[in-house]
Amino acid sequence: MSRRPLVAGNWKMFKTRAEASAWCAELRAGLADADGVDLAVCPPATALATVADALAGSGVGVWGQNVHQAESGAFTGELSTAMLLEAGATGSLLGHSERRALFNEHDDLLAEKVVACLAAGLAPVLCIGELEYARDAGSTETILDEQLRKGLALATPAQIAGVTIAYEPVWAIGTGRTATPEMAQEAHAFIRGVLHDLAGEAADDIRILYGGSVKPENAAELMAEPDVDGALVGGASLEAPSLLAIAAATRP
Ligand code: PGA
Repeated sequence: MSRRPLVAGNWKMFKTRAEASAWCAELRAGLADADGVDLAVCPPATALATVADALAGSGVGVWGQNVHQAESGAFTGELSTAMLLEAGATGSLLGHSERRALFNEHDDLLAEKVVACLAAGLAPVLCIGELEYARDAGSTETILDEQLRKGLALATPAQIAGVTIAYEPVWAIGTGRTATPEMAQEAHAFIRGVLHDLAGEAADDIRILYGGSVKPENAAELMAEPDVDGALVGGASLEAPSLLAIAAATRP
């Protein structure tokens, strides 16, 4: 089994187009550091086309941070898969914990978004993860099982093979608290088990990213775990050299 590492930066609501262009120039200059690792970046929607143009031909993926499940319609403030694709996006995050907590996104809605992306040819990256109280209560696996089964409920096993999963324990996001490599591996192995149940052997090829306070200093030990296939990086992705350093640490 050979899952190529994938490191993605999630800028959240940071960076104007000018700032995004400067970041892309820095990334391009250092791309050799990330040899053997797939890279992607999730700019805010206003910078998507700028980033896609600036990174054209580099092989770096450009993902939306969110997308609506309908093809079009009266949904003020939302963006469709066609709009993301036209702007140059190749994929989209779905169900980031901030979307779940602050914008009421729930598993049934995410199931619709997953298949909308697949139908449109936009690679879905489904984010899952437990809150701190759930981990303390010993319910991490119950939560992950539910988020996966509900979030992938409308996709066929063949379609599930085209999904990337990001495991982000909510208590580790933006807090400086990272899961230990053992905690990450345990959760990732559990997730792969559920994916096996849903998609059979294709689960061995599905990349499961870890997210939550990943930094150049802690990336290598997390990425060394057998079921951790890369990282979804928030804060540390805002500087291109730091994302490249994480990618370098991810290389097998
Ligand atoms: P963080 O964010 O790396 O700043 O913890 C990760 C994420 O929200 O994807």
